[in-house]
Amino acid sequence: MIEGDIPKDIEGTLLRIGPGKNEVAGKKNDHWFDGDGMIYSFTFSSEQIKFQNCYVKTPAFIKESRKNKRMFPCFGTLLLGPFSFCKKIKNPSNTNIFLDESSIITLYEGGRPYRTDNNFEKFSIETFRGKLAFWNFFGAHPHMHVPQQCYYNIGYFAPSIGLGKPKLNLWQWKKGRKLKKVMSLKMDKPYVVHDFAVSENKIIIFCSPYFIDRKKIWRYVQNKDSLFDCCTWDNEQKTKIYVFDIHSKNVEYLEMERFFVMHVANAFEKNGSTCVDAIVYPDDSGMQLVKDLFHGKQSNASPGKLTRITIGKDHCDSVLLSDVGVELPRINENFLCREHRYVYGIEVSKDNFSSSRLVSIDVHEKTCRFFDFGRACYAGEPIFIPRGTNEVDGYLVSLVYNSHTNASFLAIIDAETLKELARINLPFHIPLGFHGNFFAQYYV
Ligand SMILES: [Fe+2]
Repeated sequence: MIEGDIPKDIEGTLLRIGPGKNEVAGKKNDHWFDGDGMIYSFTFSSEQIKFQNCYVKTPAFIKESRKNKRMFPCFGTLLLGPFSFCKKIKNPSNTNIFLDESSIITLYEGGRPYRTDNNFEKFSIETFRGKLAFWNFFGAHPHMHVPQQCYYNIGYFAPSIGLGKPKLNLWQWKKGRKLKKVMSLKMDKPYVVHDFAVSENKIIIFCSPYFIDRKKIWRYVQNKDSLFDCCTWDNEQKTKIYVFDIHSKNVEYLEMERFFVMHVANAFEKNGSTCVDAIVYPDDSGMQLVKDLFHGKQSNASPGKLTRITIGKDHCDSVLLSDVGVELPRINENFLCREHRYVYGIEVSKDNFSSSRLVSIDVHEKTCRFFDFGRACYAGEPIFIPRGTNEVDGYLVSLVYNSHTNASFLAIIDAETLKELARINLPFHIPLGFHGNFFAQYYV
């Protein structure tokens, strides 16, 4: 059922993804990150709005569903039984989603992407014409580099997470061309790097002192702790910043007081420095918040805040842009790699990773405005659909879960006025998800 008027100028496909099946054989996973991916799409055309959803049918999902049995360890959930650690960790392909030509690509940073055709029936590993070998992971946050019209993405050389110097690769992905490895960064520890930043000339990778602690891996081998539990926050170590120059291919290295970057909203260059607007935590709170939310627990962790990290030739500093706890930041992507003024996200409090409010932050004025869906509602990542040339000219679309009715709806909000224009009510609920994107193409 549709309430309000859907703007006629929204034409294309909204794709979203998240953990859709959070249990195996009736037993709940221990971590939100481990749920099998579920795709949901809304296709807007002049004639109709079409909704579709399906699980990402990975080989692990198919095997476990057929046997109704947990058969693979996950990042945050152990598989009990002897020699379980020898089994490959499940890739639920649940974190981000893209439309490439007529195919959908689903992403998870602890594995390779999956590609599906137009009927959601068959999913196959995406190797980008054979370039992404099975030992390479591919991150969940590829970033569009507007001047080169290509994506950049990071991903670990998987065996190096456990042995030797961890190697984080930087990939360039251009439509119609082979995937290209443009850098391989050797690090001292396998840092958890969920997102990174791309500006006109630089690529910035933040390595916060949060990493898979090899000294704890024996606990994973003994089935005592999951890999998530083997991650450590080191209070003695600073955050390492690697700055890759897209043209010269040189890498510069800087350090800052420790902080953790979960998501990056945008990066741009100004007065000879690179500015990165990101959700920054004082420690590994963000990771704890995510786990606590999944288990319905109150968290003592501090929410992340929108912060500008400015990186100059030999120095860097940070400034808080808003005191509001916020996550899942998005901008009008016509402003990617150049200076933006507005960042949108969901409000996050100490008590809950998710909330009923969307936030619009004016980073020039350092002010905030909110849109509240009301009690019992949980807003999803607001995705910006541009309408004109002005930065605020567009719509925010957010998939919201109403716990009162146990159903979800897609809200369309005017990004400038923050007024709700329309609501597409679904007759069922969709589990809270992670990320999505809008494409001006039809996926049917
Ligand atoms: Fe993410």
